Amino acid sequence: MLRISVMNTKGGCGKTTVATNLASYCACQGYATSLFDYDRQASSVRWLKQRQSCRPPVHGIAAFAPAPQGSTRSWHMRVPDNTRYLITDTPASYGLIDIEDRVAESDIILIPVLPSWIDIHSTAEFVRELLVVAKAHAHRTQLAIVTNRNRAHTRAVDKLERFLQEVDIPVIARIRDTQHYVNAAEQGLGIHELAERDTHKDSESWATLLHWLDTAGEDFNHADKILRNCSG
Ligand SMILES: Nc1ncnc2c1ncn2[C@@H]1O[C@H](COP(=O)(O)OP(=O)(O)O)[C@@H](O)[C@H]1O
Ligand SMILES: [Mg+2]
Repeated sequence: MLRISVMNTKGGCGKTTVATNLASYCACQGYATSLFDYDRQASSVRWLKQRQSCRPPVHGIAAFAPAPQGSTRSWHMRVPDNTRYLITDTPASYGLIDIEDRVAESDIILIPVLPSWIDIHSTAEFVRELLVVAKAHAHRTQLAIVTNRNRAHTRAVDKLERFLQEVDIPVIARIRDTQHYVNAAEQGLGIHELAERDTHKDSESWATLLHWLDTAGEDFNHADKILRNCSG
């Protein structure tokens, strides 16, 4: 089982969009997929409720909620035995203890980041927390960036690209800014489940992303360099 957490303490950068689209993409490829939602706002849980039962299934768990009376936490959090991808959506403003827990429990942390000055700086701070406090490298947890809401050839995107080159964390997908994500979310779908003529470019990003996740090595020898670059 590959455990993927989508995290960034910055709100609105696309954590739920990445988590739900990735979950639907994995499910549509025929893989047993589970989706944990640690955010009390429950956007991923709501997305799952909208998802029709005829769609490839995603097993959802409201991880933010306590276990129902009479059952244990581990029973509440159990996933089907054959789960291939366990995807975790997380809230903004996550506390350090929670960040540490998610890092310890994940193989890969996906970090969505928007092309804006404010988001770039708060993401740099978040990456430092992942490395210094949560010790991602000690847990051999890989970090990867997904840039979100990209519009071609804007100054903000250029700045983001420069930052990403400096921090030396792999950028594994560039997601377009398109209303199709909003439309898909309303129906409990991933963007690739919409009409293909509208979304084939976007579907490619998800195929690339999943390929990277599947082939990500265990090596994490860049930690020191990333840390130096983020503290500037
Ligand atoms: N690539 C995108 N194109 C258009 N709208 C997007 C995109 N990504 C996210 N959004 C919209 O931006 C808002 C915040 O995204 P969301 O995934 O909920 O962020 P987070 O979970 O990090 O708070 C939502 O309304 C979502 O539909
Ligand atoms: Mg969210």
